[in-house]
Amino acid sequence: MAPCNKPVIVTFILMVICFTLSNGANTDISCLKAFKDSMEDPENVFATWDFSNNITGNICRFMGVECWHPDEDRVLNINLSNTGLKGELPLGLASCTSMTGLDLSGNRLFGNLPYNISEMLPYLTSLDLSSNNFSGQIPRNLANCSFLNVLKLANNRFSGQIPVELGMLVRIKEFNVANNSLYGQVPVFKNVNVSAASYAGNPGLCGGPLPRCQGPVNKTGM
Ligand SMILES: *[C@@H]1O[C@H](CO)[C@@H](O)[C@H](O)[C@H]1NC(C)=O
Ligand SMILES: *[C@@H]1O[C@H](CO)[C@@H](O)[C@H](O)[C@H]1NC(C)=O
Ligand SMILES: *[C@@H]1O[C@H](CO)[C@@H](O)[C@H](O)[C@H]1NC(C)=O
Ligand SMILES: *[C@@H]1O[C@H](CO)[C@@H](O)[C@H](O)[C@H]1NC(C)=O
Ligand SMILES: *[C@@H]1O[C@H](CO)[C@@H](O)[C@H](O)[C@H]1NC(C)=O
Ligand SMILES: *[C@@H]1O[C@H](CO)[C@@H](O)[C@H](O)[C@H]1NC(C)=O
Ligand SMILES: *[C@@H]1O[C@H](CO)[C@@H](O)[C@H](O)[C@H]1NC(C)=O
Ligand SMILES: *[C@@H]1O[C@H](CO)[C@@H](O)[C@H](O)[C@H]1NC(C)=O
Repeated sequence: MAPCNKPVIVTFILMVICFTLSNGANTDISCLKAFKDSMEDPENVFATWDFSNNITGNICRFMGVECWHPDEDRVLNINLSNTGLKGELPLGLASCTSMTGLDLSGNRLFGNLPYNISEMLPYLTSLDLSSNNFSGQIPRNLANCSFLNVLKLANNRFSGQIPVELGMLVRIKEFNVANNSLYGQVPVFKNVNVSAASYAGNPGLCGGPLPRCQGPVNKTGM
Protein backbone atom coordinates (compact mmCIF):
# COMPACT_ATOMS: atom_id res chain seq x y z
CA MET A 1 0.00 0.00 0.00
CA ALA A 2 1.12 3.56 -0.63
CA PRO A 3 2.35 5.44 2.42
CA CYS A 4 -0.34 7.56 4.06
CA ASN A 5 -0.49 11.10 2.87
CA LYS A 6 -3.22 13.68 2.63
CA PRO A 7 -4.67 12.74 -0.78
CA VAL A 8 -4.82 9.07 0.22
CA ILE A 9 -6.69 9.89 3.43
CA VAL A 10 -9.11 12.20 1.61
CA THR A 11 -9.72 9.48 -1.00
CA PHE A 12 -10.34 6.96 1.75
CA ILE A 13 -12.84 9.18 3.56
CA LEU A 14 -14.69 9.90 0.31
CA MET A 15 -14.88 6.20 -0.47
CA VAL A 16 -16.16 5.31 3.00
CA ILE A 17 -18.90 7.93 2.58
CA CYS A 18 -19.79 6.57 -0.85
CA PHE A 19 -20.02 2.98 0.41
CA THR A 20 -22.15 4.01 3.38
CA LEU A 21 -24.54 5.81 1.06
CA SER A 22 -24.71 3.04 -1.53
CA ASN A 23 -25.39 0.41 1.19
CA GLY A 24 -25.64 -2.28 -1.47
CA ALA A 25 -26.19 -5.98 -1.02
CA ASN A 26 -23.02 -8.04 -0.94
CA THR A 27 -22.49 -9.30 -4.45
CA ASP A 28 -18.75 -9.79 -4.35
CA ILE A 29 -18.98 -13.58 -4.30
CA SER A 30 -20.81 -13.57 -7.64
CA CYS A 31 -18.17 -11.15 -8.96
CA LEU A 32 -15.38 -13.61 -8.20
CA LYS A 33 -17.41 -16.51 -9.62
CA ALA A 34 -17.92 -14.57 -12.86
CA PHE A 35 -14.22 -13.79 -13.01
CA LYS A 36 -13.14 -17.37 -12.41
CA ASP A 37 -15.69 -18.72 -14.92
CA SER A 38 -14.49 -16.40 -17.68
CA MET A 39 -10.81 -17.36 -17.43
CA GLU A 40 -8.76 -20.21 -18.76
CA ASP A 41 -6.43 -21.14 -15.92
CA PRO A 42 -3.57 -23.34 -17.17
CA GLU A 43 -1.49 -22.79 -14.01
CA ASN A 44 -4.39 -23.66 -11.72
CA VAL A 45 -4.19 -20.44 -9.71
CA PHE A 46 -7.90 -20.80 -8.92
CA ALA A 47 -7.20 -23.97 -6.94
CA THR A 48 -7.90 -22.04 -3.74
CA TRP A 49 -11.04 -20.40 -5.14
CA ASP A 50 -13.50 -22.87 -3.61
CA PHE A 51 -16.99 -21.41 -3.43
CA SER A 52 -18.58 -24.45 -1.77
CA ASN A 53 -17.55 -23.21 1.69
CA ASN A 54 -20.04 -20.43 2.35
CA ILE A 55 -18.66 -19.27 5.68
CA THR A 56 -18.36 -15.47 5.76
CA GLY A 57 -14.87 -14.35 4.79
CA ASN A 58 -14.19 -17.47 2.73
CA ILE A 59 -13.34 -15.45 -0.40
CA CYS A 60 -10.82 -13.40 1.59
CA ARG A 61 -8.56 -16.45 1.70
CA PHE A 62 -8.58 -16.95 -2.07
CA MET A 63 -5.20 -16.48 -3.73
CA GLY A 64 -4.88 -12.93 -5.08
CA VAL A 65 -7.93 -11.58 -3.24
CA GLU A 66 -7.68 -8.99 -0.51
CA CYS A 67 -10.78 -7.97 1.43
CA TRP A 68 -11.59 -4.75 3.27
CA HIS A 69 -11.88 -6.89 6.40
CA PRO A 70 -10.86 -10.59 6.66
CA ASP A 71 -14.30 -11.57 7.97
CA GLU A 72 -16.38 -9.65 5.49
CA ASP A 73 -17.01 -10.75 1.88
CA ARG A 74 -16.08 -7.41 0.38
CA VAL A 75 -13.23 -7.32 -2.12
CA LEU A 76 -10.68 -4.51 -1.77
CA ASN A 77 -8.12 -5.67 -4.35
CA ILE A 78 -7.57 -8.46 -6.83
CA ASN A 79 -3.94 -9.13 -7.76
CA LEU A 80 -3.34 -12.04 -10.09
CA SER A 81 -0.36 -10.70 -12.00
CA ASN A 82 1.77 -13.17 -13.97
CA THR A 83 -0.47 -16.17 -13.39
CA GLY A 84 -1.03 -17.34 -16.98
CA LEU A 85 -4.72 -16.37 -17.07
CA LYS A 86 -6.35 -16.15 -20.47
CA GLY A 87 -9.72 -14.61 -21.26
CA GLU A 88 -11.74 -11.41 -21.50
CA LEU A 89 -12.57 -9.08 -18.63
CA PRO A 90 -16.08 -10.13 -17.59
CA LEU A 91 -18.82 -7.53 -17.01
CA GLY A 92 -19.53 -9.46 -13.81
CA LEU A 93 -16.53 -7.72 -12.22
CA ALA A 94 -18.98 -4.88 -11.61
CA SER A 95 -20.37 -6.97 -8.75
CA CYS A 96 -17.17 -6.32 -6.78
CA THR A 97 -18.87 -3.10 -5.81
CA SER A 98 -16.15 -1.66 -3.59
CA MET A 99 -13.01 -2.85 -5.36
CA THR A 100 -10.17 -0.31 -5.43
CA GLY A 101 -7.31 -2.26 -7.02
CA LEU A 102 -7.05 -4.60 -9.98
CA ASP A 103 -3.67 -5.96 -11.08
CA LEU A 104 -3.91 -8.51 -13.89
CA SER A 105 -0.61 -7.60 -15.51
CA GLY A 106 1.50 -10.18 -17.31
CA ASN A 107 -1.27 -12.54 -18.38
CA ARG A 108 -2.89 -13.44 -21.69
CA LEU A 109 -6.03 -11.35 -21.41
CA PHE A 110 -7.56 -10.04 -24.62
CA GLY A 111 -10.50 -8.13 -26.05
CA ASN A 112 -11.69 -4.57 -25.49
CA LEU A 113 -11.92 -2.87 -22.14
CA PRO A 114 -15.62 -2.34 -21.27
CA TYR A 115 -16.78 1.06 -22.59
CA ASN A 116 -18.55 1.66 -19.25
CA ILE A 117 -15.65 0.67 -16.99
CA SER A 118 -16.23 3.58 -14.59
CA GLU A 119 -19.82 2.49 -14.01
CA MET A 120 -18.49 -1.02 -13.35
CA LEU A 121 -15.57 -0.14 -11.08
CA PRO A 122 -16.08 3.45 -9.89
CA TYR A 123 -13.72 3.28 -6.90
CA LEU A 124 -10.58 2.01 -8.66
CA THR A 125 -7.44 3.70 -7.39
CA SER A 126 -5.07 1.37 -9.23
CA LEU A 127 -5.55 -0.47 -12.51
CA ASP A 128 -2.65 -2.46 -13.96
CA LEU A 129 -3.43 -4.40 -17.13
CA SER A 130 0.11 -4.16 -18.54
CA SER A 131 1.60 -6.92 -20.66
CA ASN A 132 -1.54 -8.62 -21.91
CA ASN A 133 -3.16 -8.75 -25.32
CA PHE A 134 -5.93 -6.14 -24.90
CA SER A 135 -6.97 -4.33 -28.06
CA GLY A 136 -9.38 -1.64 -29.25
CA GLN A 137 -9.45 1.90 -27.95
CA ILE A 138 -8.74 3.00 -24.41
CA PRO A 139 -12.24 3.88 -23.19
CA ARG A 140 -12.90 7.57 -22.66
CA ASN A 141 -15.08 6.54 -19.76
CA LEU A 142 -11.94 5.73 -17.70
CA ALA A 143 -11.83 9.48 -17.09
CA ASN A 144 -14.77 8.97 -14.74
CA CYS A 145 -12.78 6.63 -12.52
CA SER A 146 -11.91 9.75 -10.61
CA PHE A 147 -9.98 8.05 -7.77
CA LEU A 148 -7.35 6.56 -10.12
CA ASN A 149 -3.76 7.03 -8.91
CA VAL A 150 -2.19 4.39 -11.11
CA LEU A 151 -3.16 3.46 -14.66
CA LYS A 152 -0.84 1.05 -16.44
CA LEU A 153 -1.79 -0.26 -19.87
CA ALA A 154 1.69 -0.77 -21.37
CA ASN A 155 2.54 -3.71 -23.63
CA ASN A 156 -0.86 -4.45 -25.15
CA ARG A 157 -2.39 -3.83 -28.55
CA PHE A 158 -4.47 -0.74 -27.76
CA SER A 159 -5.00 1.43 -30.82
CA GLY A 160 -6.38 4.84 -31.77
CA GLN A 161 -5.95 7.96 -29.73
CA ILE A 162 -5.60 8.31 -25.97
CA PRO A 163 -8.79 10.05 -24.81
CA VAL A 164 -7.89 13.65 -23.92
CA GLU A 165 -10.45 13.38 -21.10
CA LEU A 166 -7.97 11.25 -19.11
CA GLY A 167 -6.32 14.58 -18.28
CA MET A 168 -9.27 15.09 -15.91
CA LEU A 169 -7.83 12.40 -13.63
CA VAL A 170 -6.37 14.79 -11.07
CA ARG A 171 -5.10 12.05 -8.74
CA ILE A 172 -2.97 10.27 -11.34
CA LYS A 173 0.60 9.68 -10.20
CA GLU A 174 1.56 6.89 -12.59
CA PHE A 175 0.40 6.58 -16.17
CA ASN A 176 1.99 4.20 -18.66
CA VAL A 177 0.80 3.25 -22.15
CA ALA A 178 4.15 2.28 -23.67
CA ASN A 179 4.27 -0.32 -26.44
CA ASN A 180 0.79 -0.15 -27.93
CA SER A 181 -0.48 1.18 -31.27
CA LEU A 182 -1.56 4.63 -30.12
CA TYR A 183 -1.24 7.90 -31.98
CA GLY A 184 -2.09 11.57 -31.59
CA GLN A 185 -1.93 14.07 -28.75
CA VAL A 186 -1.17 12.71 -25.27
CA PRO A 187 -3.41 13.86 -22.39
CA VAL A 188 -2.41 16.87 -20.34
CA PHE A 189 -2.34 15.86 -16.68
CA LYS A 190 -2.55 18.58 -14.06
CA ASN A 191 -0.58 17.08 -11.18
CA VAL A 192 2.05 14.85 -12.72
CA ASN A 193 4.64 14.99 -15.47
CA VAL A 194 4.47 11.70 -17.35
CA SER A 195 7.84 10.67 -18.79
CA ALA A 196 8.44 10.06 -22.49
CA ALA A 197 9.27 6.42 -21.62
CA SER A 198 5.64 5.92 -20.57
CA TYR A 199 4.61 6.76 -24.14
CA ALA A 200 7.46 4.99 -25.99
CA GLY A 201 6.82 2.24 -28.49
CA ASN A 202 3.73 3.73 -30.09
CA PRO A 203 3.62 4.76 -33.73
CA GLY A 204 2.46 8.35 -33.49
CA LEU A 205 2.05 9.95 -30.09
CA CYS A 206 2.94 13.61 -29.75
CA GLY A 207 2.72 16.51 -27.31
CA GLY A 208 3.60 16.57 -23.62
CA PRO A 209 7.14 15.19 -23.16
CA LEU A 210 7.18 14.11 -26.83
CA PRO A 211 7.73 16.26 -29.91
CA ARG A 212 5.01 18.79 -30.57
CA CYS A 213 1.99 17.56 -32.58
CA GLN A 214 2.02 18.56 -36.23
CA GLY A 215 -1.11 19.85 -37.91
CA PRO A 216 -4.66 19.42 -36.68
CA VAL A 217 -5.10 17.22 -33.65
CA ASN A 218 -7.86 14.63 -33.78
CA LYS A 219 -10.13 15.09 -30.79
CA THR A 220 -12.34 12.16 -31.60
CA GLY A 221 -11.85 9.17 -29.32
CA MET A 222 -14.12 6.28 -28.44
C1 LIG B 1 -24.20 -22.78 3.67
O1 LIG B 1 -24.20 -24.03 3.03
C2 LIG B 1 -24.92 -25.04 3.76
C3 LIG B 1 -24.71 -26.37 3.05
O2 LIG B 1 -24.59 -26.20 1.69
C4 LIG B 1 -26.39 -24.64 3.87
O3 LIG B 1 -27.09 -25.61 4.61
C5 LIG B 1 -26.49 -23.29 4.55
O4 LIG B 1 -27.83 -22.86 4.58
C6 LIG B 1 -25.62 -22.26 3.84
N1 LIG B 1 -25.63 -21.03 4.60
C7 LIG B 1 -25.78 -19.85 4.03
C8 LIG B 1 -25.70 -18.69 4.96
O5 LIG B 1 -25.95 -19.70 2.84
C1 LIG C 1 0.74 -7.81 -7.29
O1 LIG C 1 1.56 -8.89 -6.91
C2 LIG C 1 2.87 -8.84 -7.49
C3 LIG C 1 3.59 -10.12 -7.13
O2 LIG C 1 3.47 -10.38 -5.78
C4 LIG C 1 3.57 -7.59 -6.98
O3 LIG C 1 4.85 -7.50 -7.55
C5 LIG C 1 2.75 -6.36 -7.37
O4 LIG C 1 3.34 -5.19 -6.84
C6 LIG C 1 1.33 -6.48 -6.85
N1 LIG C 1 0.51 -5.40 -7.39
C7 LIG C 1 -0.04 -4.48 -6.61
C8 LIG C 1 -0.84 -3.43 -7.32
O5 LIG C 1 0.10 -4.45 -5.41
C1 LIG D 1 -21.97 -2.00 -19.02
O1 LIG D 1 -22.42 -2.25 -20.33
C2 LIG D 1 -22.92 -3.56 -20.54
C3 LIG D 1 -23.19 -3.73 -22.01
O2 LIG D 1 -24.00 -2.70 -22.50
C4 LIG D 1 -24.15 -3.75 -19.67
O3 LIG D 1 -24.65 -5.06 -19.84
C5 LIG D 1 -23.75 -3.55 -18.22
O4 LIG D 1 -24.91 -3.63 -17.40
C6 LIG D 1 -23.10 -2.21 -18.03
N1 LIG D 1 -22.60 -2.16 -16.66
C7 LIG D 1 -22.82 -1.15 -15.83
C8 LIG D 1 -22.29 -1.30 -14.45
O5 LIG D 1 -23.41 -0.13 -16.17
C1 LIG E 1 -2.36 -11.80 -29.07
O1 LIG E 1 -3.34 -11.81 -30.09
C2 LIG E 1 -2.82 -12.08 -31.37
C3 LIG E 1 -3.93 -11.91 -32.40
O2 LIG E 1 -5.10 -12.50 -31.98
C4 LIG E 1 -2.27 -13.49 -31.39
O3 LIG E 1 -1.70 -13.76 -32.66
C5 LIG E 1 -1.17 -13.58 -30.33
O4 LIG E 1 -0.71 -14.90 -30.25
C6 LIG E 1 -1.70 -13.17 -28.98
N1 LIG E 1 -0.59 -13.11 -28.03
C7 LIG E 1 -0.64 -13.66 -26.84
C8 LIG E 1 0.56 -13.49 -25.99
O5 LIG E 1 -1.61 -14.29 -26.43
C1 LIG F 1 -18.86 10.76 -16.72
O1 LIG F 1 -20.08 10.67 -16.04
C2 LIG F 1 -20.96 11.72 -16.31
C3 LIG F 1 -22.17 11.58 -15.41
O2 LIG F 1 -22.62 10.26 -15.39
C4 LIG F 1 -21.34 11.68 -17.78
O3 LIG F 1 -22.22 12.72 -18.11
C5 LIG F 1 -20.09 11.81 -18.61
O4 LIG F 1 -20.39 11.65 -19.97
C6 LIG F 1 -19.07 10.75 -18.21
N1 LIG F 1 -17.82 11.06 -18.86
C7 LIG F 1 -17.18 10.16 -19.58
C8 LIG F 1 -15.89 10.63 -20.14
O5 LIG F 1 -17.60 9.03 -19.74
C1 LIG G 1 8.49 -1.34 -24.20
O1 LIG G 1 9.23 -2.24 -25.02
C2 LIG G 1 10.65 -2.06 -24.91
C3 LIG G 1 11.31 -2.94 -25.96
O2 LIG G 1 10.78 -4.22 -25.92
C4 LIG G 1 11.08 -2.40 -23.50
O3 LIG G 1 12.48 -2.19 -23.35
C5 LIG G 1 10.36 -1.50 -22.52
O4 LIG G 1 10.65 -1.86 -21.19
C6 LIG G 1 8.85 -1.59 -22.73
N1 LIG G 1 8.19 -0.59 -21.89
C7 LIG G 1 7.44 -0.94 -20.85
C8 LIG G 1 6.83 0.18 -20.08
O5 LIG G 1 7.24 -2.09 -20.52
C1 LIG H 1 6.24 19.35 -14.25
O1 LIG H 1 7.27 20.00 -14.96
C2 LIG H 1 7.19 21.41 -14.91
C3 LIG H 1 8.24 21.99 -15.85
O2 LIG H 1 9.45 21.31 -15.72
C4 LIG H 1 7.39 21.87 -13.46
O3 LIG H 1 7.29 23.28 -13.39
C5 LIG H 1 6.28 21.24 -12.63
O4 LIG H 1 6.47 21.57 -11.27
C6 LIG H 1 6.28 19.73 -12.77
N1 LIG H 1 5.11 19.20 -12.09
C7 LIG H 1 5.15 18.14 -11.28
C8 LIG H 1 3.87 17.72 -10.66
O5 LIG H 1 6.17 17.54 -11.05
C1 LIG I 1 -7.03 11.70 -37.57
O1 LIG I 1 -7.79 10.52 -37.70
C2 LIG I 1 -7.84 10.01 -39.03
C3 LIG I 1 -8.76 8.81 -39.06
O2 LIG I 1 -9.18 8.41 -37.82
C4 LIG I 1 -6.43 9.63 -39.46
O3 LIG I 1 -6.45 9.15 -40.77
C5 LIG I 1 -5.53 10.87 -39.37
O4 LIG I 1 -4.22 10.50 -39.67
C6 LIG I 1 -5.59 11.47 -37.99
N1 LIG I 1 -4.85 12.74 -37.97
C7 LIG I 1 -3.96 13.05 -37.04
C8 LIG I 1 -3.32 14.38 -37.13
O5 LIG I 1 -3.67 12.28 -36.11
